[in-house]
Amino acid sequence: MRQPLVAGNWKMNGSLESISLLLQGIKAGMGDVKRAAVAVCAPAIYLPAVQQQLQGSGIGWGGQDVSAEASGAYTGEIATSMLKDFGCQYVIVGHSERRAYHGETDELVARKYAAARAAGLIPILCVGETLDEREQGVTESVVARQLDAVIQLEGVGALADGVVAYEPVWAIGTGKTATPEQAQEVHGFIRQRVAEQDATVAEGLRILYGGSMKPDNAQELIAKPDIDGGLIGGASLNAADFLGICTAA
Ligand code: G3P
Repeated sequence: MRQPLVAGNWKMNGSLESISLLLQGIKAGMGDVKRAAVAVCAPAIYLPAVQQQLQGSGIGWGGQDVSAEASGAYTGEIATSMLKDFGCQYVIVGHSERRAYHGETDELVARKYAAARAAGLIPILCVGETLDEREQGVTESVVARQLDAVIQLEGVGALADGVVAYEPVWAIGTGKTATPEQAQEVHGFIRQRVAEQDATVAEGLRILYGGSMKPDNAQELIAKPDIDGGLIGGASLNAADFLGICTAA
């Protein structure tokens, strides 16, 4: 049985004061969370403060991106060792916003996944199609291509050390959540594609849904057999909303 995971992706939001209040609120409500593992992925500059506030709380934390390189002349990038220095357990790789705005290729994302895994971090690999790709009927080939880049680089076994997040780009930040049936269809495709290579890895793989998951739709989504939690953007910036999803999982 896969333990659900609900991870907040704060994106480029917050201040030292606001994240302190947000984390106080989340910690205060954790008693109502019965099943899910909970984590927050903060802007890197706030990770020391997040570590200080979450240490020993049972809530995990992580980064939103990481360099594929270990160190060197990569201005502005953050190495896996730096995330580890501040106790991170998770790191998001290949978020659609980074693929779109920073030109991250499937190959680069796969290298980031490999670097995170090698450092003992749990990579959260984001995959998902744009509205045009869905309307063209190529959703599965897009998701397969993004997933296969990691499998080709690291082998299917590498997925046992990570998490996959299916985030239809057209549902991110739009309020247009995928229906539970739409999401389940792609989650089931992902799990089946992995199972064709390794049934054990497929069975243990947590596949999160991301894209306007809210307290009022989380339970119906996570009730689907291949949806193992959520990667939450907007709703993760409000303690009550985030806890509403965590308690529904
Ligand atoms: O990484 C999660 C994020 O992309 C989802 O955003 O605001 O639609 O929950 P949101």
